[in-house]
Amino acid sequence: MLADKHILLIVGGGIAAFKSLDLVRRLRDRGARVTPVLTSAGAQFVTPLSLSALAASKLYQELFDLNDEAEMGHIELSRSADLIVVAPATADLMAKMAGGMANDLASTLLLATDKRVLIAPSMNVRMWEHAATRRNLATLQSDGILVVGPNEGDMACGEYGPGRMAEVFEIIDAIDTALADGPLKGKHVLVTSGPTHEPIDPVRYIANRSSGVQGTAIAKAMMALGAKVTFVTGPADVAPPSSADVIQVQTAQEMLAAVKAAKPADAAIFAAAVADWHVVNAGVRKIKKDGNGLPALEFAENPDILATVSQMTEGRPRLVVGFAAETDDVIANATSKRKRKGCDWIVANDVSPETGIMGGSENAVTLISDAGAEAWPRMGKMAVATQLAKRIAEAIA
Ligand code: CTP
Repeated sequence: MLADKHILLIVGGGIAAFKSLDLVRRLRDRGARVTPVLTSAGAQFVTPLSLSALAASKLYQELFDLNDEAEMGHIELSRSADLIVVAPATADLMAKMAGGMANDLASTLLLATDKRVLIAPSMNVRMWEHAATRRNLATLQSDGILVVGPNEGDMACGEYGPGRMAEVFEIIDAIDTALADGPLKGKHVLVTSGPTHEPIDPVRYIANRSSGVQGTAIAKAMMALGAKVTFVTGPADVAPPSSADVIQVQTAQEMLAAVKAAKPADAAIFAAAVADWHVVNAGVRKIKKDGNGLPALEFAENPDILATVSQMTEGRPRLVVGFAAETDDVIANATSKRKRKGCDWIVANDVSPETGIMGGSENAVTLISDAGAEAWPRMGKMAVATQLAKRIAEAIA
């Protein structure tokens, strides 16, 4: 599995850095190529020479090294590998990653990469259990970062608890899994996400509270299973997934055109909160308060993208999944929405303000299919995405 794979190994500053030397040996035994990156704290624990000798590779340490930049720039370095592994991942490195900082070579590579990243945390038990580390871990997981360990046990600092870096064989297993071809390899999946903005005039628009978090998480989860994803998004609050084919749109009409252009697809997931209406007489100039009363806006219905694709006679994706954002009679409304639109599955959720779901980090959904309604427990939006991606993989793989 690891033969001919290229791993960029970032070694942070922790006592567990000595295990990373063994990790390099074992990876090379299995045929992988390892390019080591050592942080300045990491260099207090292992020497650059031992790491580079075991890897039989040039070692990278500094962000501003003219020789390195001339040979291979840091952006290229961040994308040259099949997988980036951070072992040990210290509390400081995790905080930098979660905060999107780029003030040394390791953090810059981690911010610039479009490859998957696996971290093996290692730190004192109090640091691991600190609220800040918990927050950072949750952020990293929702960003799609893979995590192995830490384990519980005696620590070098004399305390006992979770915080010991995972053993080398466990890290290798996690690398194997991360590099395995997912069940959706070779499949093309279309995902819509975010709100749409329907202009009233050049400065004003009609929109809704969708943040794009759930749609983005779904795209990441599908890619994690090996799918090629076309991500058609309205103006969302969160950045689109970097390794998807991203198409940014503003209006429902643009979204429909982008969706049609992206076909054929094996599956399509419509997570966007598309505005139901657009303003027919939108002003080409800013509408002024000119004393002649309120503007008379005329509305027309937007095309229903989900229904259009579900009812296609030619080139319909094998599996079409819609979402139903409801505030009342969630299951009944979503069940009839599935029939009306003609999609295969509906992921229904209650978006009443008291649920905090719209714009929040959690979701409680019910999956409605031919087999009936299946309620899932409330969980993070990334966890919903992962579970949905698994189900989609079972249906179309
Ligand atoms: N949808 C779409 N195009 C539209 C409206 C909705 O593709 N013009 C999709 C959404 O992406 C979602 C599903 O249809 O997957 C249901 O969206 P929702 O807003 O819950 O339903 P509506 O069709 O807008 O129905 P209503 O507003 O009456 O609840």
